Amino acid sequence: MSCAVGWNTRNSSCTVNGVGDIPVLKTERLRLRPWIEADRALFAEMNSDPRVMEHFPSLLSRSESDALMDRIVDGWRQGYGLWAVERRENAGFIGFLGFSQPRWEAHFTPCIEIGWRLAASSWNQGLATEAAWAALSWGRENVAFPRNEVVSFTTSANAPSRRVMEKVGMTHDPADDFDHPLLPEWVGRRHVLCRLAL
Ligand SMILES: CC(C)(COP(=O)(O)OP(=O)(O)OC[C@H]1O[C@@H](n2cnc3c(N)ncnc32)[C@H](O)[C@@H]1OP(=O)(O)O)[C@@H](O)C(=O)NCCC(=O)NCCS
Repeated sequence: MSCAVGWNTRNSSCTVNGVGDIPVLKTERLRLRPWIEADRALFAEMNSDPRVMEHFPSLLSRSESDALMDRIVDGWRQGYGLWAVERRENAGFIGFLGFSQPRWEAHFTPCIEIGWRLAASSWNQGLATEAAWAALSWGRENVAFPRNEVVSFTTSANAPSRRVMEKVGMTHDPADDFDHPLLPEWVGRRHVLCRLAL
């Protein structure tokens, strides 16, 4: 994708095709920010890492990763979305976190989900949880959540992701567990759903 917006003089980086104002959120260690072209290569690296993609049906090729990034950026047209996450100490891109709306139907849709994916080198330092608190705080003020709740879901075996849901106060009712409708043949199709009232 070309840089439709131009150069951001604040951080001298090319922001990807702007779709309205994407807010910048700061935490102690992180910045949640709009995506920039330089994220593409690091994002593709993450998406082709078997550790990062252990709980997904397949690794992503470079073109699939680029297409995902384009969809993420475009998703901000709704007024919320998935931020690029970088470390404040060195401005290094480490992944994404934020909100999205599933396009398929299940017993809990329509809904807005909070989701996350970080590079393996950044795991187990509390970073996803730190970013999630910031996103939730922003979301409470800026997003019209259906039923005034945010949900999160993951394949049952994804213990780290389930733990982040727990740490931000989400609750899990086994009666909400579901088979992912887009992945009926996948061994990981069974998913847990967590909810948080906002
Ligand atoms: C899920 C993910 C974003 C978590 O990021 P993170 O920054 O490591 O999360 P945090 O450090 O805030 O918390 C991770 C928690 O999981 C725990 N954990 C890690 N591996 C675990 C395991 N195998 N079993 C049980 N708990 C585990 C950690 O101990 C930590 O809990 P604690 O703070 O109580 O010790 C990261 O693992 C990731 O990007 N995974 C790949 C992508 C993915 O699966 N995304 C979710 C798809 S729904």
